[in-house]
Amino acid sequence: MNTLEQKSAAGKYAATLIENGMVVGLGTGSTVKFFVEELGRRVNEEGLDIVGVTTSTRTAEQAGTLGIALADVDDVDHIDITVDGADVVDAQLNGIKGGGAALLYEKVVAKNSRRNVWIVDASKVHEELGHFPLPVEVVTYGAEQLCRVFDNHGLHPVLRRTADGEPVKTDNGNEIVDLHLDTIPFPSELANWLANQVGVIEHGLFLNVADEVIVGGDEIQVLKSP
Ligand code: 5RP
Repeated sequence: MNTLEQKSAAGKYAATLIENGMVVGLGTGSTVKFFVEELGRRVNEEGLDIVGVTTSTRTAEQAGTLGIALADVDDVDHIDITVDGADVVDAQLNGIKGGGAALLYEKVVAKNSRRNVWIVDASKVHEELGHFPLPVEVVTYGAEQLCRVFDNHGLHPVLRRTADGEPVKTDNGNEIVDLHLDTIPFPSELANWLANQVGVIEHGLFLNVADEVIVGGDEIQVLKSP
């Protein structure tokens, strides 16, 4: 199976976890797109009755087009399960997220979910974190100054830009700084340090969030939180 087929297999498998009456967090990204597509099919063909809580305008648009009922995160009592993608997953099921710049809403929805399931292709699974630039959402005001702070801390920051050279804007109007780190040997320490920097809105270290990770492939692998 190629990467896209693995993503599709993981997404479709995750859709089998969804039951009538559930409030479902809908993540963001190319893997989640397959999950939402299959959910839409089940809603329309099987009459699956769910409410989705989205993590980005992209996912909201896709789900809305498919006729999936949506609610705001503040308008639901709880979220039964959230299915989201990830950029890297380590052996403890900690992850890096935010490759699609949706990390803030993704973390808010994840933190309000009873069960968090990530869907990935096999290339995302590593022994430890690193292997992918760590996204950090920052306020526009002072973003360049914050990059200097990150640089002085040895974090190799790069402000994410569009193809036109403009800073990428998140759904909340903030910007993304990617930290180019080979490995992250002490993720909790880095997470705490980042959370303490003025101007940082949120970072893409998702530690102790995932309960399960579904890895697409000829045979689906389900990794469970240790
Ligand atoms: C978006 C994310 C995505 O879930 C992550 O980037 C994985 O994306 P994809 O499934 O396209 O590889 O965190 O902010």
